[in-house]
Parts: sequence; C-alpha cells; structure tokens
Amino acid sequence: MVKRNRRISWKRLLGESGPSFLGWLEENYIRLRLYNTLAEVLKYYLEQNLKPNLSSPCLSRDFVDMLLQIHDKKKCADEKTFHTALAIQAYTYAHLLERYRRIWDVLLILLKAKVLPMSDDGIDVLDIGTGPAPALYAVSDFYSALRDFATKKGYAFLDTPSPRLHCIESSPYMWQFFHIFSELSGRPGPFQPTFEKFEGVDFAESRAYEKWARIETEIREQDTSEEYARWFVNQMFSPGYLYNLVIFSYFLTTEDNVVGREKELLSVFSSLRPGGVVVIVGGTSDEFPTIHNFVHELAIGANLLKVSGVQEVVPCNYFEPYNSYGKRLKELYDTIWNWMREQDKDIDQYAISLQAPVLAKFWDLSKRLTISPRFSLRVYRKGP
Ligand SMILES: C[S@@+](CC[C@H](N)C(=O)[O-])C[C@H]1O[C@@H](n2cnc3c(N)ncnc32)[C@H](O)[C@@H]1O
Repeated sequence: MVKRNRRISWKRLLGESGPSFLGWLEENYIRLRLYNTLAEVLKYYLEQNLKPNLSSPCLSRDFVDMLLQIHDKKKCADEKTFHTALAIQAYTYAHLLERYRRIWDVLLILLKAKVLPMSDDGIDVLDIGTGPAPALYAVSDFYSALRDFATKKGYAFLDTPSPRLHCIESSPYMWQFFHIFSELSGRPGPFQPTFEKFEGVDFAESRAYEKWARIETEIREQDTSEEYARWFVNQMFSPGYLYNLVIFSYFLTTEDNVVGREKELLSVFSSLRPGGVVVIVGGTSDEFPTIHNFVHELAIGANLLKVSGVQEVVPCNYFEPYNSYGKRLKELYDTIWNWMREQDKDIDQYAISLQAPVLAKFWDLSKRLTISPRFSLRVYRKGP
C-alpha cells in the first residue's frame, strides 16, 4: 500500500472507517476467533503448569481456596495476594479471558467515540497493574486486526506500526506468566515490566534521566561539547515515557489504592501525548463512585478532558452477543475443574461447603454463565 502524507484528522478518518471496521470484525468473527485462540493457549498453559500441581486432593483444595481469594476485592487490591504461582494460575483461569473481552469493548467504544489513540509512528501503551496482561493482549490483537482491515480495504493511513507495549507490575509471578505466555502465543510482548512498582513512578524524572544519559553518550562518542550534544539529542530523539494510551484495569479498585497515589496519578496524566487517552476500567460496586470522583478531580486538574458520550456502565453484550464468549469461558472452567475431579471426587462438596456463590460458575457444570459481566468505564483525553 503506497502511503502519502496524511491530510485528514484521525477523528475524521475514524469516523469514516469505523463503522466499516466494526462490520468487517463481525462478519468475519475476527474478535471471537482471537478470543478462542487466547482460550486455547491458556488451556495449554494451565495443562502444563497447573495440572501437575493438582496431583492430590489437598492441592486441589488449595486451588479452590485461592479462587475464592482472587474474587475478594480487598485481597485483589493487596499486592501480596499475587506473590505465589498458584494465585497467578487461579487469576488467569478465572479472569484472563473475560478481562481480555472487556478491553476489546473499551477499544471499540473509543473507536465509536472517535477518540481511539492513533499515531503514524504507532502508539505507546502503558498498562498499570498489568496482571496476566489481558489488556495488552487485547490492545495488540485489536490494532493488529485494524491493520489487517486497513490492508484489505485500502485504508492506507490506518496501517500504522504495532503498538509498543509498556507495563507496570509488581508481582514476579505475573512477569513470569506473561513472559512465558507471550512466547507461547508468538506475541510481541509483554516480556518484562517497564516499572515494577506504581509507587514512586515519576515519568518527568525518567525522561530527564534518559535525556541526560543520551547527552553524555553523545559528548563521549562524538567527542563534542555539551551544547552541541544537547542540540543533537533534541533533534534526533523523541523523548520516552510519553504515552498515547494508558490503561488502569481493575487496579484502582479501593479507596486505599487511590488515596496516597496522587503524585503518581498526576505524573501519568501529564505524560500523555496530545490526543492521548486514559481509560479506567473496574467493577460497578459502591466504592467506585468515590474512586471515580477522586480520580476525576486529579485528571481535570491535570488539564485532561473527560470524554463525554461513552458508555459508563458497559453491559456484556454491548457490541456482540455474549453467548459464544460465555460458552467458551465455561468450557475452560469445566475442563480445569474436571482435572480436579479426577484427583478428588469430593472437590464439588468441598467447594459447596465454602458457601461462596461465586464458586458455582466453576463447579456447577450445568450452570450457564449468567453472571452479569458489566463493568464501569471512565475515559479522559488530552486535547490536541
Ligand atoms: C486485580 S489485578 C488486575 C490485573 C489486570 N489489570 C486485570 O485487569 O485483570 C492487580 C494487579 O496489580 C498488581 N499490583 C498491585 N499493586 C501494585 C503496585 N503497587 N505496583 C504495581 N503493580 C501492582 C498486582 O500484582 C496484580 O497483578
């Protein structure tokens, strides 16, 4: 495809091509096929890494206990919860597919609102509290589908380089998971965290540090003055630690998670490129309005605009019927649960004895996934 200089705004281009992209995705079951591929690789991963650990009733029960923990909001907000391999396996089993599906919804909502981040040079994406990387997997699959569409339908300007994936994640067990999983599925990453802890991130400082390191290198390598090296670096390099898309998915989930992190949140908000977008995805329970209000004040204070007109509570069938997705997820739940049944014929009774309705979707083979996977969404944008 021959590319000319783009003389059309992203907003107009997305407005013109968006509906046709949506139609193309649906007609060709692109999204469902990518979801099913993710499910296959996840099943394979769990077969290799979890199944051997379920070799006794006692270990199966540990897994069930862990499933309960990773459904507890307070435990999920506590980073210590994610410091065992079993916790990561339980989390990926329970959440990876559905979170991946939700971020696809988010990206389609951004597209529909014509604020999907785009750049001729490819976008930089930062996922904070990455977990097993459902958001980054969704982003890379989504933009790859957009490029396929662009090539097939002749929208040359939409055929941009792949997104560069950055992440902040504190659990070494999560890093290990997404490194192996990215390799297993032949994905472009993530392979390692960009930063390990959200606390203390200061992107302006990181940019200044990186710039000074480049200047020092040029002074040394070119044997030149600081003044010239500074000019050279300004001409030749664009600064790092700037983002087109920032994702908080189930990371800002309790007040404790948000209050006290003002400095870091402001640093994120002021590290968006023009047209850059921050999305905040979470549950719909009582605590969220307080969290959203707190983050809203900070975002507005950092000169971001709240994108109006986006669906703030997204139901499970907002773009496509949920059935096929729910069915595939249930298949995965049943397969893994059956591995446990092979080891422990009383595992269902054990799960029932814990009296936790949230476990029924795993042990009850006849249960359709009628959970209402709604989620809350807030979008902020840096005006051009
Ligand atoms: C509830 S999970 C959310 C994972 C993923 N974003 C999702 O949507 O499923 C929260 C993740 O944040 C990580 N985390 C918790 N506290 C953190 C911190 N202070 N800095 C970086 N990562 C943290 C945890 O290890 C965990 O992987």
